[in-house]
This record gives sequence, C-alpha cells and structure tokens, in this order.
Amino acid sequence: MDELALRGRQVLITGATNGIGLAAAEALAARGANVAMVGRAESRTKAAKALVEAGAAPGVVVSTHLADLSSQAAVRKLAAEVLARYGKLDVLVNNAGAMYTTRQVSVDGIELTWAVNHLAPFLFTKLLLDRLKASPPARIITTASGAHLGATIPFDDLNAERSYRGFGRYKETKLANILFTSELARRLEGSNVTAHSFHPGFVASGFNRNNGLLMDMAMLLLRPMSRNVQKGAETLVWLVTSPDVVRSNGRYYVDMQARLPSPEAQDIATARRLWEISEAQCAGVLSRHERGS
Ligand SMILES: NC(=O)c1ccc[n+]([C@@H]2O[C@H](COP(=O)([O-])OP(=O)(O)OC[C@H]3O[C@@H](n4cnc5c(N)ncnc54)[C@H](OP(=O)(O)O)[C@@H]3O)[C@@H](O)[C@H]2O)c1
Repeated sequence: MDELALRGRQVLITGATNGIGLAAAEALAARGANVAMVGRAESRTKAAKALVEAGAAPGVVVSTHLADLSSQAAVRKLAAEVLARYGKLDVLVNNAGAMYTTRQVSVDGIELTWAVNHLAPFLFTKLLLDRLKASPPARIITTASGAHLGATIPFDDLNAERSYRGFGRYKETKLANILFTSELARRLEGSNVTAHSFHPGFVASGFNRNNGLLMDMAMLLLRPMSRNVQKGAETLVWLVTSPDVVRSNGRYYVDMQARLPSPEAQDIATARRLWEISEAQCAGVLSRHERGS
C-alpha cells in the first residue's frame, strides 16, 4: 500500500481513548502523523495519550482535548479549541460512538444515541469545515457500520419518543453517518476536501460494554467471532493514508474496498433532508441555549 507522507500531517480523532479510535491513533502516530485525541474523561484520555506517545515516531506531537460529545455546547467549545490550536487540520476522524439499550436524553434534550453518533459529528464537522478547506487536500472520515443495513431514518420520530429499541436506534444513527458523508461530499465538490465512511467489521472493543452485565457477558461470548482493534482500525488508517481514496469522494468502505451501502443509504433526497433537519436541530439547541432555557 502506497502511503502519503504522514510526517507533519495533523489528524484529529474523536473516541480516541479506546477501541478502534485508540488503535488508529497508535498506528498513525507510529507512522509519523501528529495526532490530536479527543476523549471525555481526563484519566482515560491521559492513559490513552501515554500509550500513543510510547509507540509514536520521533518528533510526533500527540495532543488531547476533552469533550462529552453528547452536549452541543461541549462540541462547540471543542471546535473553538481546535481552531485556536491547529493552524491546519489535514484529517478529521469522527469515530466516537455508542449504543444504549435504554432510552436516555442528552443535556440538550436530544435522544442520546442520535446526539453522540450523528449530531455531534455533524456539528463538529461543520464548525471545522473552513479550517479543513484551508488545509487541502483534507479528508473527513466517519466511522459508520454495517449495522445500517435495513434501517431507515425515522423523520416522524427523530427523538425516538414513540418507539425505542437500542440496536434499532443505533442502526439508524449509523445510516445517518453514511447519509451525512455522501451529502457532505456533494457539498464539498471542488473544494479539495473529501469525505469517506467505513464499516470496521465486528470488533472486540469497549462497544456495548456500557449496557449492564448481560450485554457485557454477551460481548465476551461473541469475542471469538470478532476481530481485534488493530484489524478494526485498518480501514480507517488506510482511509487516512491511501492516495487513491481522494479520487472517490463520499463513498462507504469495508475492508479497504468501496462498497455500496443499503439502498436507503444511497438515497440523495434522504441525505439532503437529513442534512437540513440536522441543521435545524443544532440551530434549535443553540437558540435554546442563547435564550437560557
Ligand atoms: N465495535 C464494533 O464492532 C463496531 C462495529 C461497527 C462500527 N463501530 C463504530 O466504531 C466506533 C468506535 O467504537 P468502538 O468499537 O471502538 O467502541 P469503544 O471501544 O467503546 O470506543 C468508543 C469511543 O467513543 C467514545 N465516546 C463514547 N461516547 C462518547 C461521548 N459522549 N463523548 C465523547 N466520546 C465518547 C469513548 O470514550 P470513553 O472511553 O470515554 O468511553 C471511546 O473512546 C463507533 O462509532 C461505533 O459505532 C464499532
């Protein structure tokens, strides 16, 4: 595999404290990229940084930022920090994500899976877009999932108030990741910034370990069927480094191959509608904050 010269390139990864994001941060720092790691807990973020630094190539700068991405105020604060700190941003990796078996709402009143998995990367990317455009050729990579298959976006129940099933909701957000990427790519045409999404495979990470003992045990039982985090991060690392990828903007990848996602994920009208509704959701949260309610 041909690789871009990573030395001096600035990569920012959310969900970098564990699993796929941490493995990707380690691999990229080992190859010479400067890695900015976003975590939400200070101790886990510090520990992850130490791991990445231990294997980093000489001269690599590893930095950290703290943000609970379920809060849009935290996403905005994080974006402001990133803009103040990095004059150029070559690669943004929207990787943080989770599933919740019971319905919860964020501090903004948004159903939590939607807030973390979809609205956070949507808002964060939009806030960083001008900096990415000023760092050509830049890439935006979003960790989606094969779990999007069979899902549709519930436009009439976006906050999952009428019906909530943990895995079903997770599937919707992963479909949203792919639709977001394809609409973003259309909006980026001619800008020298490209957008890509991928499925990492079934990975033995911390995923679904936040849902109680039963789920914890289920994930342990499934471990023999899963791949390790390094393998799970392989396509992500490839999307950061491959010179070929920039020629196909907006696509979805599995094991370093472009694949067609589900028919719903290919629907341009749905992607546009989701974009507009997501903008309205973010604007709604902002205006509630500004009014202090
Ligand atoms: N594992 C799989 O089989 C699989 C398959 C397909 C797609 N994916 C996707 O892969 C991505 C990474 O997941 P993973 O498997 O590596 O799971 P993981 O080990 O649980 O890692 C998830 C990362 O996201 C962070 N995160 C979760 N909620 C957050 C929040 N509210 N604010 C900030 N950070 C938050 C976690 O931080 P903490 O350390 O603070 O918890 C952690 O760093 C997710 O988008 C997931 O949907 C995973």
